[in-house]
Amino acid sequence: MKMVSVLLVSLWLSMVTLGRGSERCDDWGVDTMKQIQIYDGEPAKIKCPLFETFLKYNYSTAHSAGLTLIWYRIAQDRDLEEPINYRLPDNHISKDKDTLWFWPALLNDTGNYTCMLRNTTYCSKVAFPLEVVPKDQHSCVSHSIKPTEEMFYLEHANQKITCPDIDGFYPASVTPTVKWYLNCNSVDGFYERYPQGPRLVIGIVRSAYKGNYTCIVTFKDHGRTYNLTRTVKMKVVGSPNKALPPQFTSPNEKVVYELEAGEDLILPCEVFFTFLKDSRTEVWWTIDGRNTDDITDPKIKVTQSEITRDFEDKTVIRTLTVAKATAEELKRNYTCHARNAKGEERSQAVVRVKVVAPKYTVELACGLGATILLVVVLIVIYHVYWLEMVLFYRAHFGTDETILDGKEYDVYVSYARNAEEEEFVLLTLRGVLENEFGYKLCIFDRDSLPGGSEYLTGGCAPCTSSLLFSEVLNIDCNEPIQILFWFFSLSLLMNFF
Ligand SMILES: *[C@@H]1O[C@H](CO)[C@@H](O)[C@H](O)[C@H]1NC(C)=O
Ligand SMILES: *[C@@H]1O[C@H](CO)[C@@H](O)[C@H](O)[C@H]1NC(C)=O
Ligand SMILES: *[C@@H]1O[C@H](CO)[C@@H](O)[C@H](O)[C@H]1NC(C)=O
Ligand SMILES: *[C@@H]1O[C@H](CO)[C@@H](O)[C@H](O)[C@H]1NC(C)=O
Ligand SMILES: *[C@@H]1O[C@H](CO)[C@@H](O)[C@H](O)[C@H]1NC(C)=O
Ligand SMILES: *[C@@H]1O[C@H](CO)[C@@H](O)[C@H](O)[C@H]1NC(C)=O
Ligand SMILES: *[C@@H]1O[C@H](CO)[C@@H](O)[C@H](O)[C@H]1NC(C)=O
Repeated sequence: MKMVSVLLVSLWLSMVTLGRGSERCDDWGVDTMKQIQIYDGEPAKIKCPLFETFLKYNYSTAHSAGLTLIWYRIAQDRDLEEPINYRLPDNHISKDKDTLWFWPALLNDTGNYTCMLRNTTYCSKVAFPLEVVPKDQHSCVSHSIKPTEEMFYLEHANQKITCPDIDGFYPASVTPTVKWYLNCNSVDGFYERYPQGPRLVIGIVRSAYKGNYTCIVTFKDHGRTYNLTRTVKMKVVGSPNKALPPQFTSPNEKVVYELEAGEDLILPCEVFFTFLKDSRTEVWWTIDGRNTDDITDPKIKVTQSEITRDFEDKTVIRTLTVAKATAEELKRNYTCHARNAKGEERSQAVVRVKVVAPKYTVELACGLGATILLVVVLIVIYHVYWLEMVLFYRAHFGTDETILDGKEYDVYVSYARNAEEEEFVLLTLRGVLENEFGYKLCIFDRDSLPGGSEYLTGGCAPCTSSLLFSEVLNIDCNEPIQILFWFFSLSLLMNFF
């Protein structure tokens, strides 16, 4: 009875202090950084994250200061936080100092775990999710557990992959069996790679050897056999011996950016960086020596992207854009700079202002077209009406052959003697040629057929022998009106020019 009451009182006391304590408890919430995933059926140990991340002292210090560490959990699909029961029939969960042990972890151990450090007046706690995962069917691993990544230098000899996180599960006196797998294929008999206890020796690092290396450690404890499965993702990276300073692809002196004022200036700076552990890969632009990061001109924009290559080499592209660059801005010094642990390099972009071609090309083309058209028209006119033009020219500017050649007549006209033609010759033709142009016509006034050479040397012997004017004789007398019309329209045209 006394025992029970003492127990009750102490329980009440502890509840009160817990109640008071929780008022001033440093609750760090859920530490989602610590996503713990463990395999179903395998032993696991989890350290309270308080001492690793949140508190400045370790468990021994806290313990000797009178603080107690208590573990709680909210099981999957439950709301209630309850203390962890270490007295389960299978006894598979236990705690030791700041560590919670699973021998082994079971699927229903999944949940949010809380470790709380407290005394009567002080409390500090943090929660973290723990997931127990079964292996994929016909696989040595689960795809949902991310392997730890390790980098190996290309062509380096005798490198070792060490099976991670297996310390403390078995005493040093026990030698477990360790089997290695590459992407779940046993590496026994693999070329240049051979297991050496908890390590896998890589004779020489080659690009083809990258992949997921899994070690399964099997050991006995209290008569039971346990497995520990760990996976290391082997990455092959460029050797530091072959690392180089930044290599510029662009800008270079061969590429010229020739722009008209007012166009957008877009300058990509493309730099290749060989892999260099812990080295920063910096790329920046300067304009007339000033870093663009220090320029607050809204016209200037800078964007950056990265492409990872084989062996973790990478290409950084930093693009500088000057919107609607003026001629003044195009004359500035645009230089791209790049730096890694191996050195700093720079490369200036060749930017030029394009000389603007005259804008009146259209007018020029039009003028040329019009001139050609006019020439063609004139040629056509000349070919069709050359005679009329010559007559016209002679009448107005020509040396007056009609006077100087000393001949009495200039034109000899013969015609069929009928009323219609006689009227044309005597009235129209004579009127035009004699009155308008000043030629003297010899009209063969006889009833005879024209064409015989005797007529030319006969009554009209002093007639001009000019071929041009003997052509007049061949005028088709049926088109007299047309000829006259052309005389006048031509003279009009000439006056116009
Ligand atoms: C805990 O911290 C104290 C002092 O900071 C140190 O002396 C001690 O070795 C640490 N204990 C462990 C287990 O790390
Ligand atoms: C968890 O599962 C095991 C069997 O897989 C079972 O024995 C145990 O009782 C379960 N525990 C809880 C708390 O449900
Ligand atoms: C653990 O807590 C987080 C955040 O409160 C919640 O999203 C998640 O569902 C919880 N996980 C389990 C297994 O209860
Ligand atoms: C409880 O722990 C805090 C922090 O370590 C300490 O300052 C305080 O004195 C402790 N209180 C008691 C009653 O031990
Ligand atoms: C290695 O494991 C990761 C994560 O499970 C997976 O995405 C990747 O495909 C695996 N690589 C190979 C070569 O199997
Ligand atoms: C340990 O893993 C091996 C495969 O590597 C498997 O055959 C064996 O059943 C596992 N043992 C336990 C106890 O899970
Ligand atoms: C352009 O600027 C860079 C860096 O500020 C400088 O090294 C280079 O000499 C300059 N070029 C010219 C032609 O001024």
